[in-house]
Amino acid sequence: MVDRAQDAPWLAWLVEALHQAQWLLLRLLHACGLAGGAEGQPAWPWAWRLSGENLLLDAGQARLLAAGLGCAGAALLLLALACTWRRMRWPLAGGALLAVVLAPWPSASVVQVPAHPASFHTQPQPFSDTAIARGEAHYARHCLRCHGAQGNGQGRDAAAQPVWPPSFTSTLLWRRADGDLFHAIRHGVRGRDGRATMPGFAAWLSEAQTWDLLHYLRALAAGELLQATGSWAQPVPLPDMALRCHSAGKTRVSDWRGQRLLLTTAPLRDLLPDPRFITLWLPMEEAPSALPDAVDCVAAAPATATLALELVSASQSLHGVQLMADKAGWLRARNARGASAWRNDDLLCRTPDGTAQGVASGQEDALSRILRLMDAEPVRYVKGGRVHGTVF
Ligand code: HEC
Repeated sequence: MVDRAQDAPWLAWLVEALHQAQWLLLRLLHACGLAGGAEGQPAWPWAWRLSGENLLLDAGQARLLAAGLGCAGAALLLLALACTWRRMRWPLAGGALLAVVLAPWPSASVVQVPAHPASFHTQPQPFSDTAIARGEAHYARHCLRCHGAQGNGQGRDAAAQPVWPPSFTSTLLWRRADGDLFHAIRHGVRGRDGRATMPGFAAWLSEAQTWDLLHYLRALAAGELLQATGSWAQPVPLPDMALRCHSAGKTRVSDWRGQRLLLTTAPLRDLLPDPRFITLWLPMEEAPSALPDAVDCVAAAPATATLALELVSASQSLHGVQLMADKAGWLRARNARGASAWRNDDLLCRTPDGTAQGVASGQEDALSRILRLMDAEPVRYVKGGRVHGTVF
C-alpha cells in the first residue's frame, strides 16, 4: 500500500521542506552572487536536484529520507553538545559519528533527478483572464499544429513527429513543476537517445509569453477534463479578472481572497443578494452603467472574462452558468441551470481523491451543502511533487 501526500501529512511536510530548503539555498547563493540568473529568475547551478515527486509515490523511500535527516540532525546536536560539555566530549563525538554512520538514506535514483537552470522558476503572473487570452494567441501561432485545438496531441503535424505529442488533459500539467514546463517549452524536449522530440521556442517567445502559455494550457486542460469526466481531479482556480464593485478598494477577483465567490451570468431579475458569498456578475447582454444592488461586483472586461471562463468551464456559452469559488480561490462548483437551481453533484473539485462527498444532513439544500463541503474540505494540491495550499 503506497501512502500519498494527501493521506500522510508528514510526507507532504517532508516534500515541502525539501523544496523550500533548495529554494532557500538558491536565493542565498543568488544574493551572494554565487548563482547567476537565467530567463528572469535565479538560475539553479547544478545538473541535478532533490525531488519530492518520487517520494510521493514511494513512502518507504520517504521514510528512509526522514530517518536519515533525523540522524543528521541528531549528529549535529551531539557535536554542538560535545563542543560545550568538555568532560563528555569524546562519548558525545562518538555518538555523533555513530549517528552519521548508521543513518539510512534513500537510493539516489529516487530523490536525485536531473535539473536545469529554470528548475526552481515559479510562475510570476497570476492566473488571469488576460494572461489566458494572450496565451491562446501564442498557442494558435506556435503549438496548435502539433498539440491540436483541444490540447490532446492530435494536431495536423502530430503524426509526423518522432513521438506523439502528449495530451494536456493527463496529469502532466499538474504534476510537473512550473519551471520544468517553462524549460521544456523554451528549450525543447529530447528523447532517451538525445534526439529532439519537440523544438524549443525561446527564439520566438519572450519569458512572459511562455508563462502566459502555461496559464492557457491549464485553462484549456481544465475545460477538456471537465468535458471528459464531469469533474476535476486537479483543482482549478477562478481566473483573476478586473471588476467594478460597490466596496471601495476592490477592483479584482484576487482582492476578495478569503471570501466565497459566486460568478454568475444569470439575468439580473433572477439575482438576489446572498450574505453567504460575494456575487460577481458577468452580464451576457450590455451591463447597466450603474452597478445593480443585487450584485457585489460586475466584470469590468466581459469579453476577456467570457473567453477565459468558457475555456475553463468547458461551456460553449456561458448563458445561465454559475461558478462557485471557495475562500482560497479554487473553483469548486458549477451549475448551468440558472441562479437558484443547485444540485448536489454540481461539486467539481472534491477532496483530492475525488471520493469524499460528506453526509447530507436533514433539511439542508444543495447550495448550503456545497458551501459546507467547500469549507470543510479545503483543496490541497500536489504540484511538482509539492503540496500547495494556495492558488498558483
Ligand atoms: C513540431 C511539433 C510540436 C510543436 C510545434 C510543439 N510541440 Fe510540444 N511537444 C511535441 C512533442 C512530440 C512532445 C513530446 C516530447 C517527448 O515526450 O519526448 C511535446 C511535449 C510538450 C510538453 C511536455 C513536455 C515534457 O517535459 O514532458 C509541453 C508542456 C509542450 N509540448 C508544450 C508545447 C507548447 C506550449 C508549444 C507551443 C509553444 C509546443 N509544445 C509546440 C511536439 C510539439
